[in-house]
Amino acid sequence: MTAPVLDVDALLDDRDVRILVCCGSGGVGKTTTAAALAVRAAERGRDVVVLTIDPARRLAQSMGLSELDNTPRVVDDVDTRAGGSLEAMMLDMKRTFDEIVLDHAEPGRAQQILANPFYQSLSSSMAGTQEYMAMEKLGQLRRNEAWDLIIVDTPPSRSALDFLDAPKRLGSFLDGRVIKILAAPAKAGSRGMFKVVSAGFNIVTSVVTKVLGAQLLKDVQAFIAALDTMFGGFRERADATYRLLKNPETRFLVVAAPEPDALREASYFVERLSEERMPLAGLVLNRVHRSAAGALTASRSAAAAEDLDADADQDPARQVAAGLLRLHADRMNLIAREQRLAGRFSGAHPGVAVGEVRALPGDVHDLAALRAIGADLAFTS
Ligand SMILES: Nc1ncnc2c1ncn2[C@@H]1O[C@H](COP(=O)(O)OP(=O)(O)OP(=O)(O)O)[C@@H](O)[C@H]1O
Ligand SMILES: [Mg+2]
Repeated sequence: MTAPVLDVDALLDDRDVRILVCCGSGGVGKTTTAAALAVRAAERGRDVVVLTIDPARRLAQSMGLSELDNTPRVVDDVDTRAGGSLEAMMLDMKRTFDEIVLDHAEPGRAQQILANPFYQSLSSSMAGTQEYMAMEKLGQLRRNEAWDLIIVDTPPSRSALDFLDAPKRLGSFLDGRVIKILAAPAKAGSRGMFKVVSAGFNIVTSVVTKVLGAQLLKDVQAFIAALDTMFGGFRERADATYRLLKNPETRFLVVAAPEPDALREASYFVERLSEERMPLAGLVLNRVHRSAAGALTASRSAAAAEDLDADADQDPARQVAAGLLRLHADRMNLIAREQRLAGRFSGAHPGVAVGEVRALPGDVHDLAALRAIGADLAFTS
């Protein structure tokens, strides 16, 4: 089954596309793809900002990001002759959370909240916080209007769906009803309250409850009282950003490695996007293998290696040749397996455009390698 080809340059040149979100399961190349697309789009003339999450240190350095400061920085060394530009930033989850508090609470209260130990634990440990904060930051960047294309990386999670589920999960926790129960322990009873707290934050073990119970209870109440006025805003923002993801100016790219688990996750994600009517640009199949000697099949190569071995006269040149033929056979088998897996994905999702990126020999941590990835992806079209 041949899939439609992902036309990356047409996507990057489309001025109606303002947001590109790179999703996928853990370790498949989301951050790398986001950075590579950002460099390519900027060098094709767009004013781009890329929001990366937890980039490898060397990749961050190559984009001029040495510290987590939560603000976009201009990436030098990008070719601006086409009139574009590139800024990059790393998401600082804690600081993004702090900024929301500062924006929404009255000054005296904001400091109270930021200093509250319960807040400090919540802002870094709650499941889904990173996903939510990535969306929050995306909303902020979009409102800023300083860039005509925002490329978003998504947090490392096992499932690509976590990114889409986070606002709902966090939103329902922050929902008024739960807050009311928390804020009114006298009515709900303190045991009920701890049940809700531990379900949400998973930090209240029974030992901690015994030892620190009273203090924690006080902190939670203080926290809730201080935040009370803020929650409506929180929820509204989550909803607004979620709507942004459904907007026709947004496109999703699902990144996957040519492996069964990653492609299964990509399948779930594609189905979910279609249920939610969120616009999918296509699948990026990252780290695929190719061979310049594709005309020599695995079986012929393996057979030739066997012939050479059968003639074994201890001739080192023959031994080397047999070894190389065997390596080639392995490589051809791997390529065939990857193509089978990709074919299965496309069979299940015939309308989804696919672009491929070669597995480079080393890690990707400089602009030259990012350019090579962008070119590779565009070259498939
Ligand atoms: N096409 C490629 N060729 C060679 N190495 C690659 C390629 N794509 C990504 N890598 C390397 O694979 C590693 C994982 O890539 P990356 O960090 O982009 O994945 P990720 O999906 O963002 O991971 P996480 O889920 O942890 O955020 C990095 O070391 C990166 O340099
Ligand atoms: Mg990443």
